[in-house]
Amino acid sequence: MSDPNPLREGLTARPQPKPCTVVIFGATGDLTMRKLLPALYNLAADGDLPPKTQILGFARRPKTDEEWRKEMEDAVRKFSRQTVKDELWASFGQTIGYHQSEFHDDDGYKRLAERLDQIDREHGTGGRRLFYLSVAPDQFGIIVERLKKFGLHEGKDGGWARVIVEKPFGTDSASAHRLNEQIAGTFPESSIYRIDHFLGKETAQNIMVLRFANAIFEPIWNSRYIDNIQITAGETLGVEGRAGYYETSGALRDMIQNHLTQLLCLVAMEPPTDLSADSVRGEKVKVLRSLRPMKDSAEVNENVVRGQYAAGAIQGKPVPDYRTEKNVNPESMTETFVAMRVFVDNWRWAGVPFYVRSGKRMPKSGAEIAIQFKRAPGVLFNRQDGESSGNSLVIRIQPDEGVALKMQAKLPGGALRIEPVKMDFQYGSSFGRPSPEAYERLILDAMGGDATLFARRDEVEEAWKFVDPIEESWAGKRGPAPKMCFYPSGSAGPDESDELLARDGRQWRRM
Ligand code: BG6
Repeated sequence: MSDPNPLREGLTARPQPKPCTVVIFGATGDLTMRKLLPALYNLAADGDLPPKTQILGFARRPKTDEEWRKEMEDAVRKFSRQTVKDELWASFGQTIGYHQSEFHDDDGYKRLAERLDQIDREHGTGGRRLFYLSVAPDQFGIIVERLKKFGLHEGKDGGWARVIVEKPFGTDSASAHRLNEQIAGTFPESSIYRIDHFLGKETAQNIMVLRFANAIFEPIWNSRYIDNIQITAGETLGVEGRAGYYETSGALRDMIQNHLTQLLCLVAMEPPTDLSADSVRGEKVKVLRSLRPMKDSAEVNENVVRGQYAAGAIQGKPVPDYRTEKNVNPESMTETFVAMRVFVDNWRWAGVPFYVRSGKRMPKSGAEIAIQFKRAPGVLFNRQDGESSGNSLVIRIQPDEGVALKMQAKLPGGALRIEPVKMDFQYGSSFGRPSPEAYERLILDAMGGDATLFARRDEVEEAWKFVDPIEESWAGKRGPAPKMCFYPSGSAGPDESDELLARDGRQWRRM
């Protein structure tokens, strides 16, 4: 499609993007306070934010620049990765402004266009505009149409206009397609950045480096040597006041369709021809197209477990069941846990199950990918059968980002006893500095015009096509609906999740 992106050539030092104005739609929302402003501040604190970058919040509530700035200061002080330095805030705070308007109000966009021109004149932002849509998907179309109407879909005076779109990107392939069509009516694909924050996590980015910058892994990265792959993302949190959204989503749409499928693609894809956004994303799409579809509820039943948390305890503290959480339907059939067995039907992965699971109210918060290698032949040292005799390579996405290789070693002493040991690489201790937050990296990439870590249109739609039949089966549209399995909060999911692997003679890694 397009030429290799010069920003990524050889992964050498990246030129700093030029300053732009970041316009955040949904400026008073949770994400803006918890993630976006703290990310922008941390970029500034690390010297990565192009000097003169301006930030403009766009939302419905009446507020002055000063009021919003103060709210953002409080939010950044609360949620920032680094402690806020007063001197830096004094200058950073001055780059923040607020623009009040309804999302559908033409006049608001007319004023926005004038204000952006003024910012360009006063701050040298060069007609470069980054629109961040941190709003519900039904607002995407309304906003981008108006941006176009007032000429804001293109940069000015040699600048550019780009749009970052937050999840959820639709609820199925048809709605994702409609959203794509709406946005494509305003912006070309090269200017659309569909965010999946898991791709911005340091260890997720390291998957490609691990695989393609080392010669030792690729020869064994296939069905001859790998027994199975387990991808897990668990969190101790429950629905946390997000029932309005979560009740229409559930774990499959919230975590699996996007974050975990993206991780699966990075692990399973073929080496791209170069590191351009389109080469990398093209390889990921091939994986998505190779996912074995589940066509009816019998196949879903065989391969997928849906669960919902019941009352239980998290770190010793009692927590209620999902159905009694605020704004949750007391008969809710929304899943808070999914475990599934997925096959990638291509030459490399023929017959290798990918076990994927994600859940709320798990015993621990964390995300990892475990590559479980086949066992050594059962001769010499490996006569006793047992789970411990296989090697595994575990990529810890969070927390304690790192990579660990489990292998067998001889216990010191006269007797020949063999125990599993770990070779462990930890980001924190190896590089001596904390990893940036995913949003920092992703916002900076969008400013620099690098879409590699963002989902392309076909990626999103293909991922939905895989998920759609599962949702439809659960809704009883493809045969009798598979059951909901309940699990106590604080456990690693329902028993049926363990049975899914036990049927294959395997077990989950412990969470
Ligand atoms: C979000 C989901 O995309 O990812 C949340 O909507 C989930 O439900 C979150 O809690 C997990 O992300 P992280 O980075 O906190 O692990």
